[in-house]
Amino acid sequence: MKQVLARTVSPEATEALGEVLGAQLRPGDVLGLRGGLGAGKTQLTHGLVKGFRAHLGEAMSGRVCSPSYTIINTYEFTTARVHHMDLYRLTDVDDLESTGYWDALADPDAVVIIEWPRQVDGALPRHGAELVFEIENPSDPASSARVLILEGIGDAGLRARLLGAVAGLA
Ligand SMILES: Nc1ncnc2c1ncn2[C@@H]1O[C@H](COP(=O)(O)OP(=O)(O)O)[C@@H](O)[C@H]1O
Ligand SMILES: [Mg+2]
Repeated sequence: MKQVLARTVSPEATEALGEVLGAQLRPGDVLGLRGGLGAGKTQLTHGLVKGFRAHLGEAMSGRVCSPSYTIINTYEFTTARVHHMDLYRLTDVDDLESTGYWDALADPDAVVIIEWPRQVDGALPRHGAELVFEIENPSDPASSARVLILEGIGDAGLRARLLGAVAGLA
């Protein structure tokens, strides 16, 4: 079952939501972020990494940047890491091997965030949850609210944590 997770009215609000959600992430979690170019996937990820870092109680070296060229960016902490991927430029399943995608997914100490998880068939593992971004007013994307929908797939525990985090905001 799909569920509306949140509606965010600005880039800052999307990042702040990410922070709340990120505090709930744990190593082993995989979260796919779906939505067109400029939907806010990287913006949300800034917050996700900040929130996860705060949960760990650690400082972070380096910044969250879009991995659209590097395919995978990794943010390291003492006890865990975040692999942030963007599959937009990949064309087939072989690319997953050559970019180290499966290695990143098999990393037991990592949270994995995947932009464009459906670009390559079979890229999102069964336990991966998925958020879909809808631009409320597509004729004015620069200042439109985003609606974030949680798909009814992936690990039920992760979905419950994400839903619980936003319930706490109300
Ligand atoms: N409500 C909103 N939430 C997120 N981004 C927004 C919002 N409104 C406008 N924007 C703008 O949309 C763009 C989103 O960019 P980005 O996060 O890089 O998208 P993606 O990674 O999905 O391609 C940014 O330029 C941001 O300022
Ligand atoms: Mg992006």
